[in-house]
Amino acid sequence: MPEPAEPRIRVARPADEEPLASLDRAAWSPLHAVMPEPQPPYPPFFDDRHAPDDYLVAEVDDRLVGYVRLAFPTGLAVNAHVRQIQGLVVAEEARGRGVGRALIRAAVEESRRRGARRLTLRVLGHNTPARRLYAAEGFVVEGVLPGEFLLAGEYVDDVLMGRSLL
Ligand SMILES: CC(C)(COP(=O)(O)OP(=O)(O)OC[C@H]1O[C@@H](n2cnc3c(N)ncnc32)[C@H](O)[C@@H]1OP(=O)(O)O)[C@@H](O)C(=O)NCCC(=O)NCCS
Repeated sequence: MPEPAEPRIRVARPADEEPLASLDRAAWSPLHAVMPEPQPPYPPFFDDRHAPDDYLVAEVDDRLVGYVRLAFPTGLAVNAHVRQIQGLVVAEEARGRGVGRALIRAAVEESRRRGARRLTLRVLGHNTPARRLYAAEGFVVEGVLPGEFLLAGEYVDDVLMGRSLL
């Protein structure tokens, strides 16, 4: 078997709407999602608050297999030096091959390029794959909201992580 190709990371385009929406729906799980499982009719993936420019997508062999969303944590000018990862998904069949790592590294670079000094995120306490990935890429736990979400009958921590970009 040949080695899988390296993921190519680029900023999303409006034409990515359908593959991104399908990927997001297929990957839904209480391991990472706090919103209920999406049901039809599905809302658009891109809207006023979710623009293509906010997303980096990963392609392997020209197929979209993952995305990361970068956003401002608040709309405040005094908070504009911080970016937050508000979404990271890799298609199930493409996991375990470095796509998530490539997306996080690209998100770090892109946040720096856009002038940010800090990158933060929130991750559910029970999401071991994502927590290992973030820790391996230099994010540290900066706070924990214990039992913040009741998901599938379990109280789950909301873990706040961050890293400097300087
Ligand atoms: C978390 C996620 C993005 C990782 O993507 P991926 O492409 O499989 O990750 P990679 O192959 O790049 O793995 C990078 C590192 O992540 C960690 N990791 C990935 N999968 C893991 C698993 N199943 N168990 C433990 N650690 C794991 C490891 O540290 C791994 O490094 P290693 O291969 O040197 O051990 C993917 O599992 C996913 O989409 N999960 C559902 C959505 C989600 O949880 N998003 C995060 C929301 S905060």
